Amino acid sequence: MCGIVGYIGYRESQPILIEGLKKLEYRGYDSAGIAVQTEQGLEVTKTVGRLANLESRLSGDPLRGTVGIGHTRWATHGKPSDVNSHPHTDNSLKFSVVHNGIIENYLELKEELVQAGHRFLSETDTEVISHLISVEYDGDIVKAVQRAVKKMRGAFALGVLTEYEPDRLVAVRYASPLIIGVGDGEKYIASDIPAILEHTRDIYILNDGEMAVLTRDAVELLTIEGNFISKEIFHVDWDLMTAEKAGFDHFMLKEIHEQPKAYRDTMLGRISDDGRSVELSELKMTAEQLKGINRVHIVACGTALHAGLVGKNVIESLVRVPVETDVASEYRYRSPIITPDTLVIVVSQSGETADTLAALREAQRCGARVLAITNVVGSSVAREADDVIITLAGPEIAVASTKAYSSQLIAFFLFGLYWAQTVGTRDEAAVAQVLAAMQSLPEQVEKLLAQAEVIKEVAESISHHSSLFFIGRGVDYAVAMEGSLKLKEISYIHSEAYAAGELKHGTLALIEEGTPVIALLTQEDLYEKMLSNIKETKARGAHVLGIVNEGQEQEVAKSVDRQFAIPRTLPLLTPALSVIPLQLLSYYASLALGHDVDKPRNLAKSVTVE
Ligand code: F6R
Repeated sequence: MCGIVGYIGYRESQPILIEGLKKLEYRGYDSAGIAVQTEQGLEVTKTVGRLANLESRLSGDPLRGTVGIGHTRWATHGKPSDVNSHPHTDNSLKFSVVHNGIIENYLELKEELVQAGHRFLSETDTEVISHLISVEYDGDIVKAVQRAVKKMRGAFALGVLTEYEPDRLVAVRYASPLIIGVGDGEKYIASDIPAILEHTRDIYILNDGEMAVLTRDAVELLTIEGNFISKEIFHVDWDLMTAEKAGFDHFMLKEIHEQPKAYRDTMLGRISDDGRSVELSELKMTAEQLKGINRVHIVACGTALHAGLVGKNVIESLVRVPVETDVASEYRYRSPIITPDTLVIVVSQSGETADTLAALREAQRCGARVLAITNVVGSSVAREADDVIITLAGPEIAVASTKAYSSQLIAFFLFGLYWAQTVGTRDEAAVAQVLAAMQSLPEQVEKLLAQAEVIKEVAESISHHSSLFFIGRGVDYAVAMEGSLKLKEISYIHSEAYAAGELKHGTLALIEEGTPVIALLTQEDLYEKMLSNIKETKARGAHVLGIVNEGQEQEVAKSVDRQFAIPRTLPLLTPALSVIPLQLLSYYASLALGHDVDKPRNLAKSVTVE
């Protein structure tokens, strides 16, 4: 998704903007540009492609000045091109805008502007904003932005400069994240913290409908209606080093290896000292409220939804309350049946996914209590939900989610147990047994990671295939879905995840000599059934890799071609282990095929458009 950086201070802005944009590269983009207040006026340089293209264009002709805005664009309205890149200007070239999000009524606005004689160069919705601001300008950029914003519908985070007021930078947030960085004689705007963390740890997080006016020495915060507001500074306590590769070849590999720490951190302080109960002091909902919940909707997108599928198994098995899972982009349009005793759980690594946020709002509008499981403190989802469980996975940079997913599993285990102990569906001894098993997970993951070479070999062999299958039953099916998504998104190999018993109802027709099948067999009660399903594929020529429990290797040996064993844990917890070889499989397959592992084609880290 698009990235925004802005600077006003006493240093040259160009290098600060470019370095800031580099920190946002992980969000995915296809073009980039900057606008700087130079001695000649407001100047813009922008280009399609990577930031390196922009840098090489600027190297011969740098933009000199201490105030500027920058942008990485992920195309929505109009293809990636120089002219569609941001910043956009008006016809007088006196106003310049960077924008994240979508202006839904831009065509309407554009038509009016065209009739009034404005000429447009790009196909973007953003260009409309710069024209609108120029029309509204009568000597005060803040008022002009406020008037322009009132005419716009949609989602936007904006950075605005005008040549008429070269010592002011205006920022607006409406349903698209934006933060303000505060330094000494320097101020920043950014769509995400890593962009400015090198310069300051003190930030203001703007809420929807808020704006900021930055000068070198001050930040004025106000609503878009013009009312002044005050806010606490949020002090960022994590390090930029955590957001860098720390010796690994890719962020994804680093993040896969950070899972033992992510598990420990997510459990930290949430298990009683005697290990017999879960303590979720962050939850505002009372025991009575929890007891009154009779159904659950888990709503999320992509990998987060796959964590939700495991969450469904966890809650249904521990609490015996029915759980539905839903794709967030579908949820609010299908009139979900939300009763006062429904708990809606939204799951989101970034906490900014537009569809998930919209589902959260719809659930609240219908009167449901919303619990968010998210990785980002201060994110929109975290701020708007009634209750929040923060996963402590640390910043996730690679587009493919790994440690965020597995930490979401830990959050579901904790919440399921907490609920079960509150309503009494599990006694203390049973809770203690699961907690003890959970506390062994980090070490067990370390053991798995030490065998990465075995998976690397398998990955290299499957990388020659154009299609494969992941199969499983119960929670293994949920994990199969995540394994398949991971492989698709970074290796571009087509794969499908199937409930193993469902294959023979059609899909088995696709199995032919040599088709790779990854079969998960961690659920002992479903073991015999899985073996039969594996045989069905082998009879059609499939080449099967079994993901099995330690100690079962001999039994399975006759039924599969290769196998990989995960350490023993409770059946409910196996996803936290079985997903590790699948993450490694997709990583090494992508690597073998020479793809950009951390920034797969067509994808963005934070999907802030519907
Ligand atoms: C895949 C992946 C995506 C995200 C999805 C939701 O690896 O990362 O499928 O899980 O876009 O994102 P969040 O969790 O930020 O809401």
